[in-house]
Amino acid sequence: MAIKYNEKVVDHFLHPRNLGRIENPDAEAVVGSPACGDQVAIYLKIDPETEKIEDIKFESFGCASNIATASIITELAKGKTIDEAMNITWKKAVDELGGLPPIKYHCSVLAVDGLRSAIRHYLMKQGRIKPEDLNSDLVRGELYHVIYPPLGIDIVSAKRVKYIGVDDGVVTIDIAFDDEDPYLDEIKHEIEEKVSVLPGVKEIKVNNVGLYE
Ligand code: FES
Repeated sequence: MAIKYNEKVVDHFLHPRNLGRIENPDAEAVVGSPACGDQVAIYLKIDPETEKIEDIKFESFGCASNIATASIITELAKGKTIDEAMNITWKKAVDELGGLPPIKYHCSVLAVDGLRSAIRHYLMKQGRIKPEDLNSDLVRGELYHVIYPPLGIDIVSAKRVKYIGVDDGVVTIDIAFDDEDPYLDEIKHEIEEKVSVLPGVKEIKVNNVGLYE
């Protein structure tokens, strides 16, 4: 069944605003959608005095509504403070576009996740996310950056992360891969590398629970 988009969505899809990347950004993030495996990258330039987003660009590796929602989100976020931008919801993006078919709501969620993840990285670089803030959402945010090469998508979107626990700085992550998977060691190593940058991490335990239904 063909999906019907309104004119504004089509316009943002055909003429995306703020498409591309920023060289030496103050923050950036690539996130993948658990629902479909598509990805979006967000780049930010932030004025250190006012904390306003001076410039924002995106790259999309996804569908038409992914491009349209990322485009509208860059318009909504530009000129806003990072606090204001953090409060832009996927619903706001959908409303601003004049609506999306419900089956495509997750595309908007992905665009908002990308923006929030980039802002979180900015705060982390500045030491403003503290060790006591460590939680499973922050860990999941890092795991979005661990790509599983055979599928070309991150391990969260590929549904290979089965559990994330955080207890007093000890991070436990259960992943699901074939024990013989040639990428298993590389994945474990990358997980440790990415998660170890989070403030407050004392120990990382990665368990492969194997592939099961
Ligand atoms: Fe994947 Fe839209 S279907 S982002």
